[in-house]
Amino acid sequence: MLGNFTYCNPTKLYFGDESLSYLNTELPKYGKNVVLIYGGGSIKRNGIYDEVVRILKDNGKEVAEIAGVMPNPTLPKLYEGVAIARKHQADLLLAVGGGSVCDYAKAVSVSVNCKEDPWEKYYQRFEEPDCETLPVGCVLTMVGTGSEMNAGAVITNPETKQKIGHVFADEKIMPRFAILNPRYTLTLPHYQMVAGIYDIFNHICEQYFSGEDDNTSDYISEGLMRSLLHSSRIANKNPQDYEARSNIMWTATWALNTLVAKGKSTDWMVHMLGQAVGAYTNATHGMTLAAVSLPYYRYILPDGLPKFRRFAVNVWDVDPAGKTDEQVAREGLQAMEDWMKELGLVMNIADLGATEEMLEGLADATLVMDGGYKVLSRDEIVRIFKESMGQAVNPKA
Ligand code: NZQ
Ligand code: ZN
Repeated sequence: MLGNFTYCNPTKLYFGDESLSYLNTELPKYGKNVVLIYGGGSIKRNGIYDEVVRILKDNGKEVAEIAGVMPNPTLPKLYEGVAIARKHQADLLLAVGGGSVCDYAKAVSVSVNCKEDPWEKYYQRFEEPDCETLPVGCVLTMVGTGSEMNAGAVITNPETKQKIGHVFADEKIMPRFAILNPRYTLTLPHYQMVAGIYDIFNHICEQYFSGEDDNTSDYISEGLMRSLLHSSRIANKNPQDYEARSNIMWTATWALNTLVAKGKSTDWMVHMLGQAVGAYTNATHGMTLAAVSLPYYRYILPDGLPKFRRFAVNVWDVDPAGKTDEQVAREGLQAMEDWMKELGLVMNIADLGATEEMLEGLADATLVMDGGYKVLSRDEIVRIFKESMGQAVNPKA
């Protein structure tokens, strides 16, 4: 392990099918004004809303609500929430939902006392808050992003067609507590479940496919990936399998709570490509990643060959006997493709609503990262998007 790092993760987790009762432990730590934040209504249909509101009342809280946080939360919605939180003089922001709701709560947290425009400050200049921030708690209902235990907050500006994530450096932006009840995820539609599973897998890949040193993080990542493959196959056949769903939930948290990034430069290029697609199409996050991943990984494979070979052997059990390193590495990606198809993931961006006319704009909207095995040029990005449309591209071009 050659990197230098600091590690601190202050989020307290409560896990299991009785975890919501720990809201009674957490709520007394904060003042009486709570802003309850949720999405488009799934928590009203499955009863989680009623349970949470009852506990808030039992604890004597004054509750205001920010409802209707959409998947891929937008900047206008952020402004709306900031106004509500200010008016209510919030002491705690309680997010009940998936990554969108948790991310949104963090964005409100850093914006409530911010004197400047939060988009300019946090999403254009990537500054850290220099004002007081509000504590955030999460009750997670959708598994994938890891937002429940990290300092990331992704916001979409529909006007400029930019979907931008800010991972705040200060760990106080991480949720103070997160309640993880796997049972809450059982009502997720299959499409969302598998999109979340791929999001988890890709988070691990983004961190794993970087660096060449012998790093404990890579061994942890391989274990997480193997667990995810195992549980995802069970959940895909029987989404009501509590054990599989709970393992997936726990894996998601560890996939992106800063642990496996330690000592790594990390790539994040699949997310940059996927987020550009998301900004243009508003497609489900995990599906945007699935649709661009294989064209990207196949393209950079020669630059990261030893790691792609190791991935094939250690994660996908490819037998290396009698094969070149490249053959082994490509077999690994083939096994990954087979698994992705087995889950029913969307495998090209055309199926998510991307069109030929968007390709140049998508390339413009893609931030280029330099921590992986290759720094892409704009032409290479266009080429990867073209391949992600499902078009054949001359491999020697
Ligand atoms: O809005 P409701 O009605 O609640 O429906 C949601 C939403 O339509 C539904 N859902 C959630 N829990 C449910 C449920 N439906 C039935 N039963 C339940 N228990 O699922 C849909 C998707 O929810 P959403 O929160 O959008 O999904 P996800 O958790 O994948 O979050 C996606 C957002 O997180 C960002 C993404 O870019 C995207 O904006 N990310 C955040 C990251 C972070 N904080 O580190 C990293 C990720 O890479 C990602 O970029
Ligand atoms: Zn993601």
